[in-house]
Amino acid sequence: MDTPAVLLLLLFSVLLLTHYVKSLLDLRGKHVKTIQLTQAIEAMADDHEVAASFSNLFTIDGAGSWPPEAGHADSWPQALQPYREIYFSLAPLLSSGEPSVDDEVNQKRIDSFRQKYKSLLRDKVDLPQVQRLLNAAADGRWDVIPRHIYNAFYCCIASSRHAYRWAIIPVVKVAQLEKTVTLPDELEQPWTGLQKHFGCESPGGNITSNLLTNFDQAGNYVYRINAERDEAIRSAEETFARIFRGVETVGVAIYHEMILAIVSFERNKRSACARHVMAVADQLRLALKTYYDNMHNQKIPISVWMRYIQGFYAWNAGYYDEQSEQWAIFDALSGNQVLLFQVLDAFLGLKPYLKPLDQETTIPARQRAVCSAIAQHSFRASLGKPASEADLAIKKGFDSILRQLRVFRSAHRGRSMKYVTAPAPERLPMMAGKSLLGFVMADSLAYLDQFMLNRLNETV
Ligand code: HEM
Repeated sequence: MDTPAVLLLLLFSVLLLTHYVKSLLDLRGKHVKTIQLTQAIEAMADDHEVAASFSNLFTIDGAGSWPPEAGHADSWPQALQPYREIYFSLAPLLSSGEPSVDDEVNQKRIDSFRQKYKSLLRDKVDLPQVQRLLNAAADGRWDVIPRHIYNAFYCCIASSRHAYRWAIIPVVKVAQLEKTVTLPDELEQPWTGLQKHFGCESPGGNITSNLLTNFDQAGNYVYRINAERDEAIRSAEETFARIFRGVETVGVAIYHEMILAIVSFERNKRSACARHVMAVADQLRLALKTYYDNMHNQKIPISVWMRYIQGFYAWNAGYYDEQSEQWAIFDALSGNQVLLFQVLDAFLGLKPYLKPLDQETTIPARQRAVCSAIAQHSFRASLGKPASEADLAIKKGFDSILRQLRVFRSAHRGRSMKYVTAPAPERLPMMAGKSLLGFVMADSLAYLDQFMLNRLNETV
């Protein structure tokens, strides 16, 4: 090789190495800050019940951090291994080609996908062995299955269940009309134990099971829905998932300031309290930026979201309850489960957005405990008419949080409507978090819009 070529090669290698080291540092930098903040919260656990409730959430559900750690890239106990292999081998069939609008054709494709899933599970999974591992975890034996692996397995089972439930992406009408879906024991039995551990029984999972835990510890997105589709679809899917992870990552800084604000207020340190409430408002700007910068047509095309992303995260199935003589139909993922927004509502003293039954079935118990601890210590109402400079500053902080939330709720209302009206000829109107909607599109939209409008009006 001549000298210029060698120099060029050297220069190229140095550039590549610098880029690699920089990206590692960025990633670590972010991670280190989050770890420091979670540790700072944990250090306050003995002093205040709000800090204790967060600490409990981070330790148990988060495997020592937040958003939750999930050991997807680590080696798993042998018995769990087949689950991820099966998902990765079958996911490419899930979203392959345009679905038909012919019910019979689709039914055949669904049956064939489920048949393949069922036989692979039957052949490869040793269910009693899996159950032994999960029982060990239930007995607190986290040396047998470490928490971060448990979280990764939670996501694996949740993703596998949704793959089995829908069988075709974009989801199709015949699958939507199934009121009951019998899942194989290999996907039912572990799920029951996992949901018991997390404290929410919905068969369709939630933002934690399918999105927050769907990143390995280096930040890679793991269980793809559209594994082999074109880049626009793959990137939209990943960007969507990253919004939830991103919001919760900034969330940790908000939770930290919120605890400090509560503690300062209760110790009558009003100036310190004002600084912390204002810091919540400042950090919230960053959290919402994750949403504003990504939740738009350029990054997540409106034509892609409804068909290739949203349907997978729905559930819309359940069972007939003999006692009440009614169908119990379950929803699945919705932005309304994002911890940050529930925590902010509690901090402001607003009533929860979700009804108690929806909270119990879809929100993990330790996230609910965090919200109720904050609600009990919410002090905005006790401020009354500000009597001092410091109280005025606290009020200003709260007003800034409220203003930002109102802007978010109003923007979200507008953006969502654009997404939910995208054509999807192979299916009926359905939201992941609001199940099958009316058969008339205009009625469905009005129904969804009302939830958002009500919440906007309540944000005062
Ligand atoms: C195209 C994507 C999205 C659409 C179409 C959409 C649509 C909706 C709809 C229709 C509702 C009201 C019904 C319900 O409670 O389920 C809702 C609620 C909500 N969504 Fe989204 N959403 C999307 C993405 C997101 C994202 C990325 C976030 C935040 C990270 C989010 C956060 C929320 C919150 C917090 C609520 C509860 C109401 C509130 O607190 O304002 N959504 N969404």
